[in-house]
Amino acid sequence: MATNETMRRAKGGKKDEFYTQYLTIKDEMIHHKDEFKGSIVACPCDDYDLSNFCKFFEDVKEEWGIKKLIFTSYPSGKYRIVDNQGVTDGELEGDGDYQSDEVQELIKEADIIATNPPFSLFKEFIIWVVNSGKKFCILGRGESIFVKEIFEFYKKNLIWYGKIRNVGMMFQVPNDYNSDKIVNGKKVCKVTCSWWTNFGDGQEKEQPFDTGVSYNSNNYRKYDNFDAIHVKSRNEIPMDYDGLIGAPSSYLDFRDDDVFEIVGLLNHYKESNEEKGWFIGEERWIKKGDKMVISKGPVLDGKAVFGRILIKRK
Ligand SMILES: C[S@@+](CC[C@H](N)C(=O)[O-])C[C@H]1O[C@@H](n2cnc3c(N)ncnc32)[C@H](O)[C@@H]1O
Repeated sequence: MATNETMRRAKGGKKDEFYTQYLTIKDEMIHHKDEFKGSIVACPCDDYDLSNFCKFFEDVKEEWGIKKLIFTSYPSGKYRIVDNQGVTDGELEGDGDYQSDEVQELIKEADIIATNPPFSLFKEFIIWVVNSGKKFCILGRGESIFVKEIFEFYKKNLIWYGKIRNVGMMFQVPNDYNSDKIVNGKKVCKVTCSWWTNFGDGQEKEQPFDTGVSYNSNNYRKYDNFDAIHVKSRNEIPMDYDGLIGAPSSYLDFRDDDVFEIVGLLNHYKESNEEKGWFIGEERWIKKGDKMVISKGPVLDGKAVFGRILIKRK
């Protein structure tokens, strides 16, 4: 059953209604077509009247040889099953929370979970799906790599990025959401997102990573509070520096394990756990708005900088 905390967050005014465009789904799934043959696919955050995941998988079901589709939606509790018998629509007893016993029972037989889960429950969702042992291909915000649990899965190679990574994607949103963009009469919102998956053997390398840039002590500064050099953009990562490099997370889009080891994350965490890959810097006073606060995150020239991926040349 859903925990009280889950219910509070999902129902407590969280803005989770970001509907994925059909092409966004197709552009990623097409790369994993072979994974779907003979499989049972569940989309557990998907109202079959609204979700393009449902539309897309119904469209390709025959061609891709998908055995069965199971769609459940929250909070309406509607479900749809599409199999050789045809289409069966029904209503669950509860509200369709993916963690409820009822939904878990219904999707138990699924081989693959494919959805865009609620942004407010993304961490919980990915922990659940990894522990379920199922294959998955799900959409999440680009910055989710900075969530400790997600990074740990990534570092252990239990999850990785799909083909489409850190791209601004358009989602249809309800009329009361904050957005001034209207496309074809519908309100839309742009969010930077990546696909997360465990299809295949690991993150596909696009090409050997080589910025062609050499280290020069005049061009790179060490953090005030951590022994690593700060690199502003992916294209400035020096290929010949032997120490720790604080790289932007966009390095991971082109991650090349033959060249760099991913050591961990340097972020504004409370505690460090180097074994798990979470690092913190020495405490520093930094200015935040009008206030001075203590930070353990990466600090450069007295200013806090955004979290970094720590990499080291192999
Ligand atoms: C980001 S939207 C995406 C909707 C749909 N999957 C799509 O891609 O178009 C996430 C959806 O998850 C639903 N949701 C929120 N809490 C949920 C829960 N506990 N269990 C299942 N779905 C939930 C929201 O109502 C919302 O429709």
